[in-house]
Amino acid sequence: MKARLEELRAEALGELQAVASQGALNDLRVKYLGKKGALTEILRGMGALSAEERPVIGGVANEVRGAIEAVIEEKQIAFQREETEGRLREETIDVTLPGRKLPTGSVHPLNKVAQEIEDVFIGLGYTIAEGPEVETDYYNFEALNLPKNHPARDMQDSFYVTDEILMRTHTSPVQVRTMKASAGMTPVKVICPGKVYRRDDDDATHSFQFNQIEGLVIGKGIRMSDLKGTLLQFVQQMFGSQAQIRLRPSFFPFTEPSAEVDVTCVQCAGDGCRMCKQTGWLEILGCGMVHPRVLEMGGYDPEEVTGFAFGMGVERIALLKYGIDDIRHFYSNDLRFLGQFARM
Ligand code: PHE
Repeated sequence: MKARLEELRAEALGELQAVASQGALNDLRVKYLGKKGALTEILRGMGALSAEERPVIGGVANEVRGAIEAVIEEKQIAFQREETEGRLREETIDVTLPGRKLPTGSVHPLNKVAQEIEDVFIGLGYTIAEGPEVETDYYNFEALNLPKNHPARDMQDSFYVTDEILMRTHTSPVQVRTMKASAGMTPVKVICPGKVYRRDDDDATHSFQFNQIEGLVIGKGIRMSDLKGTLLQFVQQMFGSQAQIRLRPSFFPFTEPSAEVDVTCVQCAGDGCRMCKQTGWLEILGCGMVHPRVLEMGGYDPEEVTGFAFGMGVERIALLKYGIDDIRHFYSNDLRFLGQFARM
């Protein structure tokens, strides 16, 4: 029996030496030490031994069991260490790898240009006034010296909601609202940015909805030269200090005199090119001295105060500033277009 035990020890240790996986190790543990294992099998024969032999064989059996257990334990520890090391190797984080870039949005070019325009006028001491996009006929037209059936209403084809309510065709109604809210106080110095709506067919230069920024100044002794100086300051900040302006006589019912303002061509600096149709100038806004009747309806005495007003389309300024050839790019939200303005 002793010989069988020794044989078992040799066989078990031999097999354990070659074991290559945790699973195989478990199998060997069961095979040799399990309840139905080889060792138990041999020990079952103990009953047949004499009283002297029994403790001797028992001792040998314990020794064999101890030896096998020791090797199993050793292997067990080795496998665990291997597994831990493997996992650490796999889960190592390389903190020097650059991170994945998340796509970020950017300010829309129209908003960017609007902010720039606003910044110029804020720098000149203006405040920003806003008003409703759905307006009454009174604020949009009548208080601006455009009575019902006035032919100049055709200049701004309108979306009417009812006979008396429409989508505003310009932000001039905000100027009327500002005058009334100021209750005759001077000076008034505001710009009015916002969306406006006109019944235009959309094409490369027209849109039924676009953005305007208009300005209004009222005070004692405000003159056309103040308007001109203000606009020159504005275009030089927007388009560069070499930019010049010229005023051409024009007509608006709410200003008298009225003018159309051109800036030296941003492409050819005045030499003449395709963009400016060889004239050297690009039209950018309308302006004039506030009509006495408009002052009156706004609650001001035209004998006491004077004022100037101007209005421009943000899209047009942006088209010129960035050399964009189609206004529809601003509304189609193509990321390939918008992305170009991310860092400008
Ligand atoms: N309200 C005019 C427009 O939308 C622009 C303008 C404003 C002209 C102020 C003169 C003075 O066409």
